[in-house]
Parts: sequence; structure tokens; C-alpha cells
Amino acid sequence: MVTKDIRWYIESLEKAGELTRIQAKVDYNLELGHIAKLAEERNGPALVFENVGDYEISVLSSMYTSARRLAIALGADENSSLCELARFWATRTHHPVAPTYISSDEAQVYENTFEGKEADVLKHIPVPQLYPEDGGRFIGTAISVVTKDPNSDWINVGTYRSQVFDGKTLGLQPLKGKDSDLHIQAARKKGLDRIPAAFVFGSDPLLFLTASTLFGRGLCEYDMVGALREEPMVLTTGKYSGLPIPANAEVVIEGDLMINDLKLEGPFGEYTGYYSGTPSPKVWLDVKRVSYRDNAVFPISTVGRPTTDIHYIQALNRAGTLWGELEDMRIDGIKSVYFLPEATGRFVVVVSVDQKYPGHAEQVGMAVLGSSTGHYGVKYVILVDGDIPADDLPRVWWAIATRSAPDRCEIIKRGRSTALDPSLPINARDITSKMILNATIPWEWKEKPALIELDPQMVEQVKSRWTELGLANVLPL
Ligand SMILES: Cc1cc2nc3c(=O)[nH]c(=O)nc-3n(C[C@H](O)[C@H](O)[C@H](O)COP(=O)(O)O)c2cc1C
Repeated sequence: MVTKDIRWYIESLEKAGELTRIQAKVDYNLELGHIAKLAEERNGPALVFENVGDYEISVLSSMYTSARRLAIALGADENSSLCELARFWATRTHHPVAPTYISSDEAQVYENTFEGKEADVLKHIPVPQLYPEDGGRFIGTAISVVTKDPNSDWINVGTYRSQVFDGKTLGLQPLKGKDSDLHIQAARKKGLDRIPAAFVFGSDPLLFLTASTLFGRGLCEYDMVGALREEPMVLTTGKYSGLPIPANAEVVIEGDLMINDLKLEGPFGEYTGYYSGTPSPKVWLDVKRVSYRDNAVFPISTVGRPTTDIHYIQALNRAGTLWGELEDMRIDGIKSVYFLPEATGRFVVVVSVDQKYPGHAEQVGMAVLGSSTGHYGVKYVILVDGDIPADDLPRVWWAIATRSAPDRCEIIKRGRSTALDPSLPINARDITSKMILNATIPWEWKEKPALIELDPQMVEQVKSRWTELGLANVLPL
């Protein structure tokens, strides 16, 4: 099979000097996660842990903790900035590419497959406990959960955290209004108490990136991987679930998602840098079949405090999707879009806009907050003029200092929040206020502040004397 998979990605990272293999034996309980997090916080490489306890399956961590790694996954120029990768994403995702299928007997993911008592995830998969106060071992961090709308053909693939309750029982946390939650709500309305689900790990590295993207209703992430890759994914039909799953996944866990008889799940050390709160009732997977490739590699994300894997992922996929949405709305003049990984990759977005008419910047601010990407979790939209790239943070701060005025900013009192926002009281996190921080010069001003520019002729003259001035060695031009 020629399609890209996690092994292709590992090989590519290794060639680029972006991956280190750890052969020493490590413990799944805290040790593995702490090694990964400490390495990530020092801008370390992606890691393959080849010996986790007595497990045969190895673990891949820190897949996306830099723009370069994301560029390699996307097949983009390796020197691209996050903003340039977002542009790449926005362009490619306009053209979905549907997957193709092979039979399940040909699919690598079924090279090893277990049912009944043997389908016990803890027997096979080195699931880590990442943080001391986590409710347990979390299998779903770099996870892609496949479900189907009970009323249509809509297949969704989403990333939602999953806690191991025991080897046959896995909690799942699709938050309110997420696509798989909509499938669950529809199933409940039909009187169902379970729906089939498949938990997928590995396959094309873009699957996890797209599964954690808010594409909006009705779109299938498999088509978006095809769009980004410009070639179809190869799927097969799940032997237990009947759902489409990637033929080259490393690990697939199939079962029934129990949607009424909920179980307490959490807490978990979340991407905000805080634990998610006290345990709360969640849906759970009754595991029926565990399958994996020969020499499987199990991917994880350390989640937790910024700035690591999940923050880069969110910064990329949210900026790319939002940029595409603003284009779909036919809003002119968008120069660049940037979600700050340091601000968790989701709460703060900067948009650079070339204003062409009165109220243009304000239109962009409101469009961001009304979009599929921007309506959820974004609290601050910072607008800057087109002369400032959205990711040029020193100049963004300069614009905030010199072009914004508090009474030209808008506070929106009610908008959709995320249950994980620690700035809100734990029992009131559905709704948040939002702010459009307008740091643009008002378009309608006849007399705009005069920018200081250097005299171009004098610049040339000074450059020609740079060596004579003794500056060439200390400050090459
Ligand atoms: C590592 C990681 C963990 C995540 N965990 C959750 C989670 O537990 N629950 C949730 O609703 N969203 C979670 N998200 C965000 C969702 O993946 C994201 O909102 C995505 O759009 C969900 O897919 P959907 O739009 O198809 O519902 C997580 C994202 C990442 C990258």
C-alpha cells in the first residue's frame, strides 16, 4: 500500500533529525509522560519509546511540537511558519477527496486481532498515565473516534479524550455539541442505548490533525485528509463496527458506545495547563475487538501545559480552517490568521486585514466570532492592519499600544465557551464573554497618523558604507 502512514512519518522525522528512539525500559505510569513533557519543554525531538514495561507495542510521543514537524506531516516546505502552513491548509481543504476501500482481509490493521476476553486493551496497549492527578490511564490523546449519524450517511472522525476504566471499558468525552455528541443525541432520540464506534490510532498523521479540527456539520475528516494529501485515504470496513476505518491504522478498538448508562470520568491534565475538574458522567465504549498491525506503534499526545503538541495542532488547524471560512464568506482583504500556541492555540486569534471600506475590520471581527471555528472557545479576536503580519507579535503589541482604543473594542456578553476554560467558574462554563480587540487605524479617518519611514536613498547610502563603518562583522546586512 502506498498511502502515507505513521511509519512513513516516523521515517521522515528520523531523516530530518526530528526523532529520537528510546530503547531503555520506561514505566507507563508517569515516567513515559514526564520524559516526553520535559523533552518537549526543551524543544526536544519526537520520541519513540521502544520498551514500555513488558509491552510489545512501542509508543510515539511529541509528534507535532514544532512548525517543522507539522510541515513534514503536511508535505509542505519544511521552513514554513505556522501562518504559512495555515495558508497551505486553507487552500487545500477547499477540495475534499473521498476515500477508497479495500477488503478487511487485506487491511494491515487486522494483522493481529482479538475478540472476547482477549480483546482487553491493557493486555496489548501501553497506555500511559500522564499526570499525577489524572483519573487514570488515558488511551485517547492522539485518538480519532469514528461514529455514524443514525439518521444519515454522515461519518464523523473526532478527537475526544478517552480514559481506561478497565481493559474492556473506555470512557469518552465528546463535549456538548461536538459532532459525535450530535450523533449520540440523535441516537438517544431514536431510543437507542448504544451506537457502534471505532477508536483509531495511527494511519496518515493528518488524520489526527483533521480529527481535532472543527470542520462544521456533515463533513467527513477522511475526505479532508484526502484534500490535504491530494490523494484518497484507503479505508476498510470495521469487522465489528461496520464503520469505515483506515486500513493502515496502527491500532483500532471497536465496540459499542454506551450512551445512556454513563460512568464517572476524569479529571485529566488538560491543554489549558490545569486539570479538568472533578469526575463527571461520560459515555463509554464496551470493547468488542482490539486489532493492530505487526510491530505496531501507539501514538500519544502529552496534552497538559503549553506549549507542546496539542497547542501547535490547535494553532495550525484552527488558523487554517478559520482562514478558509473567511474566504468562503467572501470577505476581502484577509492577509493572515494566527492562533498563538502559547495561548493554548485556541483562545486568542490575530487577524491581519487590508481595510477597503468603513467597518471592514469590524466585519472581520464579527465574522470570526460567527464562524464554525471562531464561535467556539475563541475569547479574543485581535485585529491588525495589513502592514502587520498576524504572527509578528512584537508589531501586534505595537499596534495594540498605538492603534487601538478601548472604546473601539467590542465586548460580546454571551458566546459559546468550552467546558475546559479555567477562567470561568467550574459549574458555569457553557457561555463566555468575548472581545474584539480592534488594533487597526479606523478606515474612515481622513487624517491618519503618519508612519515614520526611513529615507530610502539614505538607507542605500548607509548600506554601501556598512563595512567601512565597521558594522559588517557584528551585524551582517
Ligand atoms: C489531544 C486533543 C484532545 C482533545 N480532547 C477533546 C475532548 O476530550 N473532548 C472534546 O470534545 N474535544 C476534544 N478535543 C478537541 C476536538 O478534537 C475538536 O473540537 C474537534 O473539532 C472535534 O471533532 P468534531 O468537530 O468532529 O466534533 C481535543 C483535541 C486534541 C488535539
